[in-house]
Amino acid sequence: MCGIYSSLSTNKMLCSDFLISLKELEYRGYDSAGLVTLDKNKKYKSYKTLSKIDDLKLKISKEESSSLLIGHTRWATHGKPNIKNCHPHIIENLSIVHNGVVENYDDLKKNKIFKNVKFKTDTDTEMILLLIYNYCKSNSFINAVKKTIKLIKGSNAFVCSNIGKGINELAAYKNNTPLYFGIKNNGEKVFSSDVNAMSNSLKGYYYLDNNDIVHITNKNTALYNKKNKRIVLKKIVDSNFKRPKIVSSCYTYSEIKDQKKIISTYGKNIQKIYNVVRKIKKPNEINIIGCGSSYNAGLLAKAFLEKNSNIPTSVYRPSEFNFFLNNKNKLFIFISQSGETADICSLIESKKEFFSNSLSIVNNDDSRLVRESKYNINLNVGLERGVAATKTFSSQILVLNIISKILSKDNNNLVFPSSSVINKLFSYEKEIIKLSKKYSKFKNLFVLGRNYNFPIACEAALKIKEISYIHAEGAPSSEIKHGPIALFDNKFPVIFLVSNKKETIHSEISSLNEVISRTNNIFLIAPDTVVKKLEPKTLSKIDVIAVPDFQNDMAPILYLIILQLFSYHLAKSKKLNIDQPRNLAKVVTVE
Ligand code: AGP
Repeated sequence: MCGIYSSLSTNKMLCSDFLISLKELEYRGYDSAGLVTLDKNKKYKSYKTLSKIDDLKLKISKEESSSLLIGHTRWATHGKPNIKNCHPHIIENLSIVHNGVVENYDDLKKNKIFKNVKFKTDTDTEMILLLIYNYCKSNSFINAVKKTIKLIKGSNAFVCSNIGKGINELAAYKNNTPLYFGIKNNGEKVFSSDVNAMSNSLKGYYYLDNNDIVHITNKNTALYNKKNKRIVLKKIVDSNFKRPKIVSSCYTYSEIKDQKKIISTYGKNIQKIYNVVRKIKKPNEINIIGCGSSYNAGLLAKAFLEKNSNIPTSVYRPSEFNFFLNNKNKLFIFISQSGETADICSLIESKKEFFSNSLSIVNNDDSRLVRESKYNINLNVGLERGVAATKTFSSQILVLNIISKILSKDNNNLVFPSSSVINKLFSYEKEIIKLSKKYSKFKNLFVLGRNYNFPIACEAALKIKEISYIHAEGAPSSEIKHGPIALFDNKFPVIFLVSNKKETIHSEISSLNEVISRTNNIFLIAPDTVVKKLEPKTLSKIDVIAVPDFQNDMAPILYLIILQLFSYHLAKSKKLNIDQPRNLAKVVTVE
């Protein structure tokens, strides 16, 4: 979603360096980008693009520098993605970049302040700027900002600049959508919606609390809390960031490959996880809440928790959470790789008392969700930049499995797939590329799996949809006769996941045969031993990848990796933008 990056310094900063940081926000998803600099007459000069940050680089000379830089990546929520609506917006001495939505836009527009005012854009951002502009007529800049935030409602963060005689100043405000204030080693002061974007030479940073305002000038920094009281900025966190190494030009592919090491060495995190879980009283019931892939991880966690720890578990999307249930002896597990997903954060914040016994599982320690939950476990897999969750999803599964074992007091029995097992999966890549070329021609796909493989089928369908734009549905293979079978024909291929669970293997194979008799296009993923037992006649009709036999809770991860590679190659063969699929954002900060 939208990203803010803005910087003020006593010295001039190279725009090209600034763009490197702005580019770090790209992974969040955006449809336009812009920045303002100060020209030699100390007037705003703006650059905008409907393309990538690299396009801004082409528009700005290599030598251009400025002591004030205001940048933004926009993911349109209020007004179409076009140059007119692209941030920063400027009125005379003021300029603004904004993330979020002014929820009372329509009501506010009736305010007398806007009588006879002609809006130049379709954005709610312009309304914030016009309010500040109007209040500036009879107030100082900072008081104008303070008056403005009293009027706007919703999840919003903005940085507004004011250029004056001998003084340049920035005011930043945030409510519910993330904003960090950072100080660089050279004294430069920055605001960013993502701590990674400002990580280079960062001395320390502060995560703005809701309704904080940070006011900076060339000389001073002041922090005002929601009661409008000036407070001491003492929570500056020392920075020890390292930018992750990228092993390929595509982040998603690199992140799929990162799992080779992550999975086989995940055991190193057990003690940390144990230290958190041992503080939690064993609950009578667990409710898991998450969106998208995190929801799918929750489905698998339900199976782990019910089987290993004997604790009844329900899984919810935050918007569907049922408040009629009571919270007695319940543990609420919130799963979110970003920790900033608006739906999930608003839910926990809406009833703090109800969710007081909460555990969050995130990949970002300094996030809104972590701040709201009682206990927290970090996935610890490094920043994930591809919009499609890959390494964060597999680590969610690992953490949740470890939790289920700790709650069952059976944590001696934790075996992760070794690097040779994982490498074996990657050795099938050539075969997967061939299959993805074949299946990329179709418009629809079913992914079927049973037990632990059902959540994996749902996750694979989500991956296929989001990066290859092929309609895909995940369903339990045991359910086909209750509906899905109506769709099977030669134009509707099926990816079929068969387990090696002795209680269900016969019915899984009989469902497979039912599918074989209705479509010619079947891609089977099954354990080696199972494939070996299939009739040659059956094998001649289907595409097969045999995964190593792995007899424990971690077996679904083997199917997952094959399917992540398959989704990636489907998208690659269609020449799509895999890291930033259309319309999607990595961090969904707006409900
Ligand atoms: C996953 O591939 C998707 N990009 C998406 O469904 C994602 O899992 C969802 O938006 C939840 O994000 P979170 O884990 O950061 O809360």
